[in-house]
Amino acid sequence: MSILITNIKQLLQVHKHNITILRGEEMKKLSILENAYLYIEHDTIIEYGTMDEYHPIDAETTFDATGRIVLPSWCDSHTHIVYAGDRTGEYVDRINGLSYADIASRGGGILNSAKKLQNTSEEDLYNQSINRLDEIIKMGTGAVEIKTGYGLTVDAELKMLKVIKRIKQDTLAFIAPTLLAAHAIPEEYRKNKEEYIKLITNELIPKAGDLNISHFIDVFCEEGYFDIEDLETILKAGQAHNFRPKIHVNQFNILGGVALGVKHNALSVDHLELLNDEDIEALKESDTMPVALPGCSFFLGIPYTPARKLIDAGLPLAIATDYNPGSAPSGNMNFIVGAACAKLKLTPEEAINAATINGAYAMGISNMYGSVTRGKKANFIITKPMKHYREIPYSFTHNPVDQIIINGQLL
Ligand code: NIG
Ligand code: FE
Repeated sequence: MSILITNIKQLLQVHKHNITILRGEEMKKLSILENAYLYIEHDTIIEYGTMDEYHPIDAETTFDATGRIVLPSWCDSHTHIVYAGDRTGEYVDRINGLSYADIASRGGGILNSAKKLQNTSEEDLYNQSINRLDEIIKMGTGAVEIKTGYGLTVDAELKMLKVIKRIKQDTLAFIAPTLLAAHAIPEEYRKNKEEYIKLITNELIPKAGDLNISHFIDVFCEEGYFDIEDLETILKAGQAHNFRPKIHVNQFNILGGVALGVKHNALSVDHLELLNDEDIEALKESDTMPVALPGCSFFLGIPYTPARKLIDAGLPLAIATDYNPGSAPSGNMNFIVGAACAKLKLTPEEAINAATINGAYAMGISNMYGSVTRGKKANFIITKPMKHYREIPYSFTHNPVDQIIINGQLL
């Protein structure tokens, strides 16, 4: 299997020497080749260059990309796409004045989704979830993190992990599974949160570790959910079974989760709608990627992550969809790139860097995904004809994607 793409108007994120992260000032530059070609064999990038340097290559498939942009597929490092049903009722309740917290306090929200998921068969859950994945692949996503967290019992969390495993086997996209058993406190543990935490640390984490499906652990560190002590207990239990933290912090309140995440070598700290100077200081000198989720801010009407503060402090930033039924029911990374420019005040270059190489970093795969470098995985978006890559965020509801190459296959 070999594919040759010629006459590419702009080939984005080209790096002769492999890169795995872009920080601060580095994010301002998007490395591009004008009038380029690209050659792929099987699932691997073999060669690229400008059309001036091009010598004919014999390929099984040739694609003339005149007038089009080619870029690495989006790397969506934060999603909850395995869920059952929807929460359109709560959505209307919010429009009519209830807050996300009001809905959660009457047993809705994550607990509502957990009830639905517990009553859904593994087969049905798989079918609903793979449909969402197929939908986002068509919109240009080639690597995606998927969390548990709508099970909230040992059986239902393991059911979610098994569904994620099946999805991983059946799709061409790269899948990074994350265990998020500490997403909410189940009704039956309302008055006894410690027992639920024990269930997670003593039973669920070891069982999930044995299944060997997921290598990341997440906790929703928030008032009314899991506090800073709970976070530390769960992260430590996870680390004993080789789970690296990727955590939900600073969505509605600052509890100190950023510094604690950094202390436990978190791969990413996600949400950050609120951010203070201590958080910024903690992130400097760390290997932790801050992740902004502008779709969640848009949908809930909460503040947008102060992304400029992070980048201007020399830090890296990734952007992701947070695709989930409650706070962000969309997995469209094209919109996220547009929202990052319009609302987080990222330049198009910064937003594309945040959605490709830095998104890959936030899943631990940026050595193989997220840039055009010889030997890296062949995951690409070929856009519809356009004058410049800036049109991707500029035309923010327009679907820029024409063709997809995923794991070396042209779809
Ligand atoms: O990332 N904040 C916690 N978890 C999800 C929302 C979950 C839900 O409402 O179902 C989030 O926003
Ligand atoms: Fe989330």
